[in-house]
This record gives sequence, structure tokens and C-alpha cells, in this order.
Amino acid sequence: MKIKNIFSKKEKNIVDFENLPQHIGIIMDGNGRWAKKRGLPRSSGHAAGAKTFERIVEDAGNIGIKIVTVYAFSTENWNRPKDEINALMALLEDYLDNGLNRLAGRDVKIHFIGDPGAFSESFQKKLMHMEKATENNSGLLLNVALNYGGRSEIIHSVKKLIGQAVEGKIKAEDITEKDIEKYLYTSGQADPDLIIRPSGEYRLSNFMLWQGAYSELWFSNCLWPDFTKNDLLQAISDYQKRNRRFGGV
Ligand code: FPP
Repeated sequence: MKIKNIFSKKEKNIVDFENLPQHIGIIMDGNGRWAKKRGLPRSSGHAAGAKTFERIVEDAGNIGIKIVTVYAFSTENWNRPKDEINALMALLEDYLDNGLNRLAGRDVKIHFIGDPGAFSESFQKKLMHMEKATENNSGLLLNVALNYGGRSEIIHSVKKLIGQAVEGKIKAEDITEKDIEKYLYTSGQADPDLIIRPSGEYRLSNFMLWQGAYSELWFSNCLWPDFTKNDLLQAISDYQKRNRRFGGV
């Protein structure tokens, strides 16, 4: 593969560009603590995290990653204080309103995963508009998880299959993994090879529970707003040293 000429020699030596993970999931954690360390409101941490998000998506595309999934708002995040939720929604809305201009020329295809039903109609229209406006792009596929939970995603799929069983289109005893996958929000996509979680927490927090069955997990103590291209390259490099056996020997 052709390595973009924007990487330094040192960066080119960190990863093997011929053996990249296809799909990387990112749990963008640590915004609140980043803000607290600086005596700032949590919303400033999210604003800094949103900037990191845009930077890292660009870096991932330049590196040659095919799919990135970011956890932007979980089904559990509604339990946060109202003003923090409002600040997060404002950031997301800013991205929906202005992200396309900022992405111009980058060939990123955007797909939202999660249950959009909890958002206002105008917000949902903006989600659909962004997906539509980028649907023919053939560069990086960016899944943005919004009102997303791995368990509710599996329930969503199971409900669809039960509906089909009731209509007699499918028999319960014939259901396979492929059928469940067909109705996940990431249907048709490769599973994440690598899931990155910064901020010193070591858990998945309901992120890509089905798809992450064989993902390599990478943790670091860095808080998400401080996450850099170098951290991304290091995560990929560590991933490349792992021995993936998928349950075999
Ligand atoms: C977790 O950090 C982060 C979130 C719940 C929100 C992530 C959202 C962003 C980075 C903004 C995304 C914006 C766009 C445009 C996609 P935390 O608040 O739980 O941090 P803490 O554990 O330090 O409190």
C-alpha cells in the first residue's frame, strides 16, 4: 500500500503499514478529568475531546484505516447532569452543522449507530442529512455511536428476528450469528480488530459487545483530549505484535 507522504521517518517506523487493523473502535474517555485537572467545567473537556476526535479521525484516514467507530454518547449518558448533556448535544449539533465543511475533501463516509429515536426530529434530520451527504464517499467509514449501547443493539437485532419468525420468514431454530449480525447497526462491516480506551479505565462500558468478541483491547492512561497521532500509531504498533488466535491455537 502507498504510505502518505505526510508521516515523518520516525512515524513510518512505528507501524507496519502493510498490516493495519481494518476497523478501530475508540472509547473517547477522560474528558471530564481533563477539564477538572485544569479547573474547567466538564463541558470544556468535551469541547477539547471533540477537537481530538476530528484530529484522530483525520490521522486514522491518513494512516489508511478503513473503519473507525467512536463512542460519542451512550444509552447510559442520559444519566448525566442536564447541563452536561446539553453541552454534549451542542457539540454534536455543531459537528452536524459544520462538520461537512471541515471534512471537505477528506472522502469520509459517516454512519450513525445507536437509537436515534431519543433525539429531536430536527436533530434526526441532521443525522440523516450527514449520512446522505457522505454516502458516496469511499475513504474512511466513520461510525459515530450516538445513544448507543451494545446490549440495546443486540436487543434491536433480536426483535427484528422475532418479527420475522412471527411472519413465518425464519425459524427460531435456524437463527445463526449471521442473522444477528444482519440487524446490528454495523451490519455488513468488519468487526473491530482493535478497541482503544484511554483514561486508565479497563472496561468496555457497553461498547460493541457483539462485534468486539475477538477485538484486541488497548488501554492507556492518557486522557482523551490529550490523545495524539503518536498514541494512535503506538496502539496500532502494539496491536501488530499481538498473536490473534480467534479461539484457535
Ligand atoms: C467520556 O468522558 C466521554 C463522553 C461521554 C463523551 C465523548 C464525546 C466527545 C469526545 C465529543 C464528541 C463529539 C463529536 C463531534 C463526535 P467522561 O466525560 O466520562 O470523562 P471522565 O471519565 O473523565 O469524567
